[in-house]
Amino acid sequence: MSKPKFQTPAGMHDILPEDQGYYQKINDVVKNIADFYGFEKIDTPILENAELFSKGIGASTDIIDKEMFVLKTKGGDFLALRPEGTAPTVRAYIEDGFANLPQPIKLWYSGPFFRYEHPQVGRFRQFRQFGFEIFGEESAVIDAQMIQIFYNILRELKLKNLVIEINSIGDSQCRPYYKKLLSNYFRSRESALCADCRRRLRENPLRILDCKDEKCQPVKAQAPQMIDHLCEFCHKHFKEVLEYLDEIGLPYRLNPYLVRGLDYYTKTVFEIFPESTPTPKMVGTPNRSVGEEEAVSKLSALAGGGRYDVLVKLLGGRDTPACGAACGIERIVGLMKAKAISPRKEVGFDIFLAQLGTLAKRKSLKLIEEFRQEKVMVAESLGRDSLKAQLARANKLGVKYTLILGQQEALENRVIVRDMKIGRQESLKLDKAVHEIIKKIKNK
Ligand code: HAM
Repeated sequence: MSKPKFQTPAGMHDILPEDQGYYQKINDVVKNIADFYGFEKIDTPILENAELFSKGIGASTDIIDKEMFVLKTKGGDFLALRPEGTAPTVRAYIEDGFANLPQPIKLWYSGPFFRYEHPQVGRFRQFRQFGFEIFGEESAVIDAQMIQIFYNILRELKLKNLVIEINSIGDSQCRPYYKKLLSNYFRSRESALCADCRRRLRENPLRILDCKDEKCQPVKAQAPQMIDHLCEFCHKHFKEVLEYLDEIGLPYRLNPYLVRGLDYYTKTVFEIFPESTPTPKMVGTPNRSVGEEEAVSKLSALAGGGRYDVLVKLLGGRDTPACGAACGIERIVGLMKAKAISPRKEVGFDIFLAQLGTLAKRKSLKLIEEFRQEKVMVAESLGRDSLKAQLARANKLGVKYTLILGQQEALENRVIVRDMKIGRQESLKLDKAVHEIIKKIKNK
C-alpha cells in the first residue's frame, strides 16, 4: 500500500481510540494522587518566551542547544513550544503572585511537550508529561515525598520492579570546586572522550557524566564523584533524603553519574526506571500510534526530577527553595502494553434499546437521555431498522435486558423488556420504564 500523502510529523503521533483508555487511566490516577497530597492543577500556555527556557534550563543543555522548537512571531518575539513544565510553572509562580500566599505552594500539570529529538523507542518530538512541583520547602523530607509520590503513581498503575536512581549534585557552595576537579580529570583524558563530550568539556563538564557513548564509559568510571565532595550542608541534606527513603522502604540505587539533562537542579536528583522490560515486542493490541516496537527500554527513565532551589530567583522571583519531578506518559503507556496491563475494564452496558419506526426512534432519543441522567449504560443502534440486527447486537454486548420499542409500543406509550438470561418478556409503561429497569438492575 502506498503511503498516504499526509502523515503525522516525525516523532509525533495520534492517540487512537483504542489507546485512549490508557491516557484516561493515567490521568485518573495522577489526579487522585494529586488531590490526596494536596496539589492544585495549573495549566500554562503551550508557547512561552524562548528565553524563559534558555535561562531556566541552561544554554549548554541539549534541550536548549538542539531540541527547542522556536518561532518568531509577526511582532518579532521569539516563542518556544514548551520542552518541559518546570520553567513555565516557576514563571507562573512568580507572575501570578503565588509567592505572596502561605507556603508551600503545591502545583501539578499535565499536557503536551515538545523536543526536537531523534525519534526512537520511547522518545518523541511531541510527548505528554505530568509533573508535580512544590515551592517554599527546603527540608529533605519533601524530596523523599516527591519520590514517593511518583513511585506511588507508577505502582498504582500496576507497574512493578521499579528502580529509583538517586544522586546529589550539590549546590553553589560545593559544585564549582567539584566541576573544576572534574574538568581537570577529563581534560587529562580528553582524547579518550567522544566528540560530543570534548565539546561538553568546555561548556559543562558535568554533562559528560550523563554520556551514554561506549567510548566514554571507562573514562567516566574513574572520574571523581560529586558525592565525595558535597559541602556539609548538602551532605546532611542528602543523608536525610536517603534515611527517609529507607524509612518508607523505597528501593533506591545510588547513581553517582546521575546529573540530569537540565541545569537548574541543586542537591537531590532522581530518576525512576522500569528494572527490565521483557521484550520489545508489544503484547496485546498493537499500538499503531506509538509504533509496533514501542516498549520502554531499560535506558528510558519513566520519571525524573529533583530539587531546584535557585530557579525561582534566577527567573526573577524571591529566593525560594523548590522540588519537583515529571513523568513521560507515552513511556508509561508503552510499558503498560509491554506488560499487558489493561488500563480499565471494558465499558459494560446494562441494557440495549431496540426500536422500530420513526415514532419509536423519537421516543428512544428521550428515553436514552433519561437513562443517561440516571447513569444507566444503555447501548443502541438508532440508525438501524432491522429488529433482528439490533437483537443480535444486544446479544453480542451481553446486556442483561433489552428494551424493545416497536411501532405498536410507541403508539401505546409502552415498552417491552426482555430478560436476556431467561428470555421472559413483559410490557411496561414508558414513563415507569427507567425506574423499573433501575430496580431490576439493582436486584440482579
Ligand atoms: P525530564 O527528565 O527531561 O525532566 O523529563 C521527564 C520525563 O519526561 C522523562 O523521564 C521521560 O519519561 C519523559 N520524556 C522526556 N523527554 C521525552 C521524549 N522526547 N519523549 C518521550 N518522553 C519524554 C523534566 O522535564 C523536568 N521538568 C522534570 C522536573 C519537574 N524537575 C523538577 N520538576
